[in-house]
Amino acid sequence: MTVLEFKNIFNKNLESQIDKNELNELFFWLIDHYCKIDKIHYIVNENYQLNNQEENDLRKAIKLLKKETPVQYIIGSAEFKGMNFSVNSNVLIPRPETEELVDWILEDNPKNKKILDIGTGSGCIAISLSKFLKDCLIEAWDVSKEAISVAKQNCKKQKTKISFKLIDIRNNIYLDEKFDIIVSNPPYVTQKDKQNMSKNVLNFEPHLALFTPENDPLFYYKKILNFCEGHLKSNGCLFLEINENLSKNVQELLNDYGFHDIKLRKDFRQKNRMIKAVKK
Ligand SMILES: C[S@@+](CC[C@H](N)C(=O)[O-])C[C@H]1O[C@@H](n2cnc3c(N)ncnc32)[C@H](O)[C@@H]1O
Repeated sequence: MTVLEFKNIFNKNLESQIDKNELNELFFWLIDHYCKIDKIHYIVNENYQLNNQEENDLRKAIKLLKKETPVQYIIGSAEFKGMNFSVNSNVLIPRPETEELVDWILEDNPKNKKILDIGTGSGCIAISLSKFLKDCLIEAWDVSKEAISVAKQNCKKQKTKISFKLIDIRNNIYLDEKFDIIVSNPPYVTQKDKQNMSKNVLNFEPHLALFTPENDPLFYYKKILNFCEGHLKSNGCLFLEINENLSKNVQELLNDYGFHDIKLRKDFRQKNRMIKAVKK
């Protein structure tokens, strides 16, 4: 079978479920991954003959897409800050709005700072910071040992240096050291939000990475702020990704914990999605 013939089968199988533009993107994503044919070179490779392995992988991908599996989990990788991150169902797929949170930290151009990423998942935040801030010391925590394992793999792949620790932020944590910058994209999806979530997130991404306890949407922010009390330096910065519906509540909470210069930022979709605050 040629790639062109596969494209016809692919479209026929999925066009009732997936919008045309997205379908096109997905096709190129798969062809690039399995056959190493990128979008630019597709036209001259339309008659490329798929080998058995490629045809099997691509047919399997159709079945998984039909079940609404995110393409990043099918191919096992996702792009973040121009880098390729390995992902599996134990880690959240890195999102573009999180790239903007990283960019906000990079804008300050911190030098020789100690930075902590709480809830590192694939390691996308910590690894990007380590890549762009060569003289900073980066540490990254997660409660999931499976996530830490993926993050370590990505750290090696990107040739960065990060200290990873299996730590549960729900516990009272006492360390001798303090950090200059703490960043977190914690679980912030409420049970109420669940109703509006698409199946490809709800059924495939790890619930540990997504959801807050039922009655306390600010649960993880409070835990992070308790930790900051003893472990973020005076004048140290906290960067948080937030649920767009909770921006006021998170700002109030930061105020209650004595933070100042609390700044809210919108993402590229014009949604309130990140906060920076300075500790007294
Ligand atoms: C929204 S995901 C963010 C992942 C990654 N930082 C990113 O931006 O793509 C939240 C992460 O927090 C971790 N997490 C959940 N509960 C935690 C806890 N109690 N202590 C530490 N990490 C936790 C999850 O395993 C998950 O990796």
